Amino acid sequence: MRVAVVGLGYVGLVTGACLAEWEHEVTGVDADARRLGSLREGRVPFHEPRLPELVADGISTGKLQFTDDLRGASASADMVIVAVGTHDGNGGWQTDTVRGAIADIVPAMGDGATLVIRSTLPPDFIRQLPALVASRRAAVGAASIPVMLNPEFTREGRAVRDYQQPDRIVLGIVSDPDGHGEAALRELYHSAAAPIVVMGAIDAAITKLGANLFLATKISFANELAEICDAFGADVATVVDGMSYDSRIGGGFLKAGVGFGGSCLPNQVSMTIRTAAQVGVDTPLLTAVDEVNHRRRSQVVERAKALLDGTVRGRRVALLGLTFKPDTDDLRDAPALTIASGLIEQGASVVAYDPMPTARERSADLVPGLEVVPSSSDAIRGADIAILVTEWPEFVELDWAAAGQAMNRRVLIDGRNVLTGEQLAAAGFTYSSFGRGTLVPDAVADGAVASPAAVASLQWGGG
Ligand code: UGA
Repeated sequence: MRVAVVGLGYVGLVTGACLAEWEHEVTGVDADARRLGSLREGRVPFHEPRLPELVADGISTGKLQFTDDLRGASASADMVIVAVGTHDGNGGWQTDTVRGAIADIVPAMGDGATLVIRSTLPPDFIRQLPALVASRRAAVGAASIPVMLNPEFTREGRAVRDYQQPDRIVLGIVSDPDGHGEAALRELYHSAAAPIVVMGAIDAAITKLGANLFLATKISFANELAEICDAFGADVATVVDGMSYDSRIGGGFLKAGVGFGGSCLPNQVSMTIRTAAQVGVDTPLLTAVDEVNHRRRSQVVERAKALLDGTVRGRRVALLGLTFKPDTDDLRDAPALTIASGLIEQGASVVAYDPMPTARERSADLVPGLEVVPSSSDAIRGADIAILVTEWPEFVELDWAAAGQAMNRRVLIDGRNVLTGEQLAAAGFTYSSFGRGTLVPDAVADGAVASPAAVASLQWGGG
């Protein structure tokens, strides 16, 4: 199929490159000349495993091309997939970009072509889509076209795999009287061995949101459970493992830690709360999900204070990990940035390291006063406390005993529950996690677990 993909961000570029690998003829459209220039040379403007290889292959086979000619690409396509951004940058939705794209695309499309919306949009906007598209077609005297929704469920860091081996493909019918749109999408996905679920457009939009809202709820649930575990001296990882054997519950997305970040989960929780309020629906559960998630970031700062005798002022904090999760260079709503700002506000000197060079470059501008260094050892050297915020393998595999020798104090907050507290404590660390208690060096011998308050009152023998 000849496919135009409009918007070459995370969603659009993954879509285009994967479709090119499935041998469709893809034209990627974007207005950003610099982005197009790098893509034509095979350079992907963000980190996503396997994507550069797919883009390079697509360019060399001629299956993937890039242009800024939106009307031209739309006119020659069997299908136009819209994947433009819909965030307003302030925790809300904006539909101007998608409206603008539709205004250009729809009049140019050929009569047999299908319009597919992949951007995540508010349900209310989806309701307006049929009339919007029909009026644009009528204005140029063109026949009506099928309009479909095809929400994405790919995760950053595994987007190519998620795209090519999806759990399910959701097709939402916006307007498809003779079934041509659905048939075209089935043809597009003929290489994917996944159930195809067809439903109304609003159902599809809310399926997309519902999936993310549920994942966010699971994470905040795990974080609240972690607090309960801390209070009673239980280990949240063991508890979740024990729960996960129940097939009604499962174990995914129940990892306690510093909470969820990124461009999707936090935004979609806050957008849904706002959108629901506009139609008179109260969402106390989602409000709590949001609160638990944001509280966690300030709890990290409070925990650091408690571990450092009540203040971080004048203390050197090694912050390990800046991206919102491993295998991405995305800093959008990354917990590390909020935690760094909180610590700096309280007078700490924060020295951060992330394995992603591009994330290091951008983060210094995003957090005034943040020092960013090129290696974990530079961050750790002389630190009074280390805080692991993103579970990059490099931090999990670090020689923590050696790292401890380089620190001013051996204090560690494991914000992702990925290290073995007993090993750290044996190496002389005070090891603090969320939902797995705090282990202090002296207490390890009796297997005791101390509360953060007890740790705060620890007497340090000269650092
Ligand atoms: C999320 C969804 O997982 C995708 O299915 C969806 O397509 C995408 O949003 C989207 O709407 O575009 P993504 O934002 O890439 O994908 O990231 P996730 O893997 O969902 O992780 C989100 C955050 O939750 C990360 O900060 C991660 O560290 C955190 N997390 C995840 C936890 O704190 N605990 C967990 O158990 C799992």
